[in-house]
Amino acid sequence: MATRQRLIAGNWKMYKTRAEAVAFAKELTSVAGTRKAGVNWPQAVICAPFTALYGLAEAFAASGVSVGAQTMHQAPEGAYTGDVAVSMLRDLDVTFVILGHSERRLYCAETDAAVAEKSVVALKAAGLTPIVCVGETLADREEGRTQSVIAGQLDPVFTALGQSGIAAASLSRLVIAYEPIWAIGTGRSSSAADAQDVIGAIRTLTNKHFGREIAQAVRILYGGSVKPENIALYLGESDIDGALVGGASLQVSSFVELLEQSKGD
Ligand code: PGA
Repeated sequence: MATRQRLIAGNWKMYKTRAEAVAFAKELTSVAGTRKAGVNWPQAVICAPFTALYGLAEAFAASGVSVGAQTMHQAPEGAYTGDVAVSMLRDLDVTFVILGHSERRLYCAETDAAVAEKSVVALKAAGLTPIVCVGETLADREEGRTQSVIAGQLDPVFTALGQSGIAAASLSRLVIAYEPIWAIGTGRSSSAADAQDVIGAIRTLTNKHFGREIAQAVRILYGGSVKPENIALYLGESDIDGALVGGASLQVSSFVELLEQSKGD
């Protein structure tokens, strides 16, 4: 039986100034403290805009909440105006990075090939955990293409990781987030059973590429209109290890509620 630690990841997108982020961190730390945080709570990370990362990492330092970025470039450095390299994230004590979010794929042309390269770079960096996002459009779902679209997005990532020479222990750090595009920010979430179908298939694919041990260790999240009211449904499914949460991660009260709902036994 796998013992995967649950992960609740907030994705703030392009919300919150540095001051707002620090205020959130202070409030979360104090609320969590009074609720005896840390005992059985899941691992928690806030993925914030680049401009808030430094302040957030400082404010969360003693809290056990991790800080993540929302993208990064695959090159170690270079003439890539507006981009940020892995070493720059690690320099700020950033320990997670979202890769291939559907908004980055749509608005910033983050391709499957780039996501694959970035995944390799992130897993090679000590202490950095990539959250690789995949998901189908409404048309894909309605026309029965969900599984093939997801497999098509993951295949380049798995192939690149397989060829990278990265050790099994590091590969096990990989986090995948299944986020149906039609469920993001719409209030229209996937049913837990449908999410489990896709996430179970992702675990099977992981098994095919890397074998059982890694497939059982890799954490797979659901994302798309997750709220305190529905998170328990997803966590009740055997292959769903947590959630990637946009809107409901922006207020301390709802983020704390998500953590409460995700407590272990
Ligand atoms: P949402 O966003 O929770 O607001 O639907 C999820 C995401 O984009 O990661």
